[in-house]
Amino acid sequence: MTELATAPGALRQTVFGVEFESPVLLASGTCGYGQEYADLIPLDEIGGLVTKAVSVEPRVGNAPHRVAETPGGMINAIGLENVGLDVFRAEKLPWLDAHLDRAHVFVNVVGRTEEEYATVVAGLDEDAGFLGYEINVSCPNVKDGTMFGTDEAALAALVRRLRAATERPLVVKLTPNVADVGVYARICEDEGADGLSAINTFPGMVIDIERREPLIGNRSGGVSGPAILPMGVYATWRARQSCGLPILGIGGIRTGDDAIQYILAGACLVQIGTASFVDPDAAVDVNDGIARYLERHEVARLSDLVGTLVPGPTV
Ligand SMILES: Cc1cc2nc3c(=O)[nH]c(=O)nc-3n(C[C@H](O)[C@H](O)[C@H](O)COP(=O)(O)O)c2cc1C
Repeated sequence: MTELATAPGALRQTVFGVEFESPVLLASGTCGYGQEYADLIPLDEIGGLVTKAVSVEPRVGNAPHRVAETPGGMINAIGLENVGLDVFRAEKLPWLDAHLDRAHVFVNVVGRTEEEYATVVAGLDEDAGFLGYEINVSCPNVKDGTMFGTDEAALAALVRRLRAATERPLVVKLTPNVADVGVYARICEDEGADGLSAINTFPGMVIDIERREPLIGNRSGGVSGPAILPMGVYATWRARQSCGLPILGIGGIRTGDDAIQYILAGACLVQIGTASFVDPDAAVDVNDGIARYLERHEVARLSDLVGTLVPGPTV
């Protein structure tokens, strides 16, 4: 990383009871299980990573095409392809445990039912190699998985159930596909979650006009990348207004200045997804860009900046 005049440790924060040396993590589904990207991204120089979703059984995912470029980003419908709980425990967690030192790991958890989420959490809870869970209630690609993130009662019951199942940090990843993200943020806090990730992708469609059919095998997919930056910032701000939980801001972040928008809106950590596909150095560059902002604005510690958005004019 570039040498900066910023005081050493300026980016360091204690969140979920542990020290994050950097506020930048890699987003779920965009960094495999860490190992696949270890030669490309210096994982211990950033805050950590969120694994690909883990479900009880392995999933093969959707038919191709699964990804396509869109104006200002991309669309994906991977369909939560993953190795499943047993292989994750046997092969992926031991690698993370052995190879990561400063970087913190969250396991992204999915399920079709409350029971499936709880089985994954119970199955992992005694294992080493990760800090906590990021509960994916928001993937738009699996039809029977959408209800938890958009149904207030179902979300409350799920968070309550998982809270009772673990003492590890429990972060809920919100979907933006609701009228008011703040309502769902509040539910998560009331039911005992430790943090929120905001946000997952937006549902979208790309049409191949020559064939007159959807380009993506699943027909629709989740849109990510720079196009969703303002929506992610807004969701973060709404969540911050509605609850006091730590927020991991996600969506369209490419630069340190993008990340600063999330931090001012209320995020203490950020995640980088699509940008790493364009440039594997993106996460490190975002980290350095945040440090440069602190230096430029003579802010001693990143934590002094979190949620300090000046209200601005209203009509
Ligand atoms: C190819 C791909 C796969 C993804 N898989 C998951 C996943 O398994 N679980 C999840 O919670 N989010 C998943 N996401 C969503 C990202 O973690 C992130 O929330 C979203 O892409 C917005 O961030 P970005 O604009 O920086 O990419 C995936 C995104 C992409 C592009």
